[in-house]
Amino acid sequence: MAEGSTREINYLRISVTDRCNLRCLYCMPKEGVSFLGHEDILRYEEILRIVAIAVRTGVLKARVTGGEPLARKGIVDFLRRLHEMNGLHDISLTTNGTLLEACAEPLRDAGLKRINISLDSLVAEKYHTITRGGNLDAVMRGIAAAERAGFSPVKINVVAIRGFNDDEILDFARLTLDHRFQVRFIEFMPIGNVSLAEGFTYYPNDEIKKKIETLRPLAAAPPNSLNTNGPARIYRMEGAAGEIGLISAMSHRFCDSCNRLRLTADGHLRTCLLSDDELDLKKVIRNGCSDGDLEAAIRGAISEKHRNTLSDRHEMARKNCARGMSAIGG
Ligand code: 5AD
Ligand code: SF4
Repeated sequence: MAEGSTREINYLRISVTDRCNLRCLYCMPKEGVSFLGHEDILRYEEILRIVAIAVRTGVLKARVTGGEPLARKGIVDFLRRLHEMNGLHDISLTTNGTLLEACAEPLRDAGLKRINISLDSLVAEKYHTITRGGNLDAVMRGIAAAERAGFSPVKINVVAIRGFNDDEILDFARLTLDHRFQVRFIEFMPIGNVSLAEGFTYYPNDEIKKKIETLRPLAAAPPNSLNTNGPARIYRMEGAAGEIGLISAMSHRFCDSCNRLRLTADGHLRTCLLSDDELDLKKVIRNGCSDGDLEAAIRGAISEKHRNTLSDRHEMARKNCARGMSAIGG
């Protein structure tokens, strides 16, 4: 798409906390992480105000992320209020799943219908290693609870890392045979704490596709309620209940069709995952701005995004990305 395009920027990712109960090797250091203070984090009321104004500028979809969003107090009630907001058509949540078992039902009752769960290994020790202490069993119970509670789709995000989980691709794919899951393979992106993930390289989606095809034929899945618009290419194995998604963040660039805005936990609006150009909305709202000022500020950021999203920016920005993934929200 050309510079100055008019594609709709209609998707807002909201990070409600930079804290997490896990410490994934590629995301956070083991210790010494400096987290935001209580005052630096947007209050739920502030987030809701920003979202309501963002809806006026064309945002239709929202995703709540972290850190780990289920680790923030009051999250279920926040999601209920988000659900009750006029104009948002679609709300989902990305979680590591470790705290999900107990909240799956309350989340559904709050109106949440869709959920993404991050899971990089199906082997307990490997999961423990990559998350620095996470309990695979807890996540599997969380996934089962989400399925029982009637989430649709339940998406499982697998960050594909060469030499770490490429031997589990078929095991992940097999999960879709009997479950209406969408298992999504995301190419590992060397951003943020790159040094921590030294030696990690992405496992290309095209190789994943070939591997899965040795198990069963894969056909492109027609759009349906399980797969909604996004950067993923969606397939279904012959006879499978669920789907496979391939997110080629490294091997195929999708900057030109990116429709996202990101709100960080400390209230900065980020128009590109990989660029540190941010608008400090927290400052704007805590200075007592009117709704009109806030709307103008958000519209300004959106027009910047229209000007700037050329694919080669990807390479440029990747080198300049100061925040880690946990502080941006994925
Ligand atoms: N590359 C690709 N995906 C990542 N995630 C976190 N860090 C990276 C990275 N460097 C994933 C998480 C989660 C989602 C929010 O982003 O595993 O599934
Ligand atoms: Fe937590 Fe997700 Fe980062 Fe892992 S990748 S440490 S689960 S925020």
